[in-house]
Amino acid sequence: MTNPTAPVTILVADDFVENREMLTCVLEDEGYRVVRAVDGEEALKSVATGSIGLALLDVNMPGVTGLEVCRQIKRNPETRLLPVVLITGLQGTKNRVRGIDCGADDFLSKPIKFEELIARVKSLLRIKQYTDELERAETVLFSLALSIEAKDPYTQGHCDRLSRYSVALGTSLGLGEDDLVALRRGGIVHDLGKIGVPDHILLKPGALNAEEWSLMKKHPETGERICQPLRSFGSVLPIIRSHHEKLDGSGYPDGLRDGAIPLIARILTTVDVYDALTTDRPYRKALPDEQAFEIMRDEVKRGWWDADLVVELQALMREGKTTCQAACAGTVRGFVASVRDAS
Ligand SMILES: [Fe+2]
Repeated sequence: MTNPTAPVTILVADDFVENREMLTCVLEDEGYRVVRAVDGEEALKSVATGSIGLALLDVNMPGVTGLEVCRQIKRNPETRLLPVVLITGLQGTKNRVRGIDCGADDFLSKPIKFEELIARVKSLLRIKQYTDELERAETVLFSLALSIEAKDPYTQGHCDRLSRYSVALGTSLGLGEDDLVALRRGGIVHDLGKIGVPDHILLKPGALNAEEWSLMKKHPETGERICQPLRSFGSVLPIIRSHHEKLDGSGYPDGLRDGAIPLIARILTTVDVYDALTTDRPYRKALPDEQAFEIMRDEVKRGWWDADLVVELQALMREGKTTCQAACAGTVRGFVASVRDAS
């Protein structure tokens, strides 16, 4: 993460040296740091360093074009929030349409008017500052969730896996981007409310007594309360609150039934149960997939889980599709670590 007090670094990518130098001059005069790239490939290398705060890309560059650089920046979860301004020629309408498709944040036409350039850069950086602040809040919640997970050696990696599995399951069901983001976040923070459960209960190796159990059952509501003030986490709240509901109404905290349990919560519940069965526990070793799904199918018959989701998850696991999601969801831990390293 960039130091908020350091000057913002702007990437200027243009194959024409005159254009690069002219833009550099104007931006440096405004107090920005400038990194220059002579083509798309060099631009992508600079972006990968993580030090760039905004990218100005000429659309027409030999090899990897500005459009392609933009597409790659916006596709990568690590860089998708980086503001990208595409610089197009006078006849740039077609390129603008393609640029919008690639996720560009703004456009500048040649010849560039310097006042316009600076105004757009400032406006985009202001928006970036807000998203950075939101991301920092998200990071705090993720760190908190991972530190709760770290208390129990038997649940190591549980949040990462849940994030990955539930995004994979959501993707195979054709859910939209908003739901997939909610699932990615929900996988990490669903048990955040366990912060309110004393360690002697959280880590108790044996069965919980009635009083301990009633405390444990409060964690969905506690987690929901913690995340509620963060508006960007609105879509995650149903996951946090309802991930222990069962279709027959015997779950908690609301005893919801069937379709009253939000689909994204049912998805997380399905992968949560699967992960619990297929990892080591203090009282038994991890079960193989076939056995785990047999148990889950029995529990479907008892009225607990969503039969369709169990079938779909088993198909995914057989095909090994969850691995293709690893690059996306696996960034959660890396992201948190990079923030810790930078602070
Ligand atoms: Fe939970």
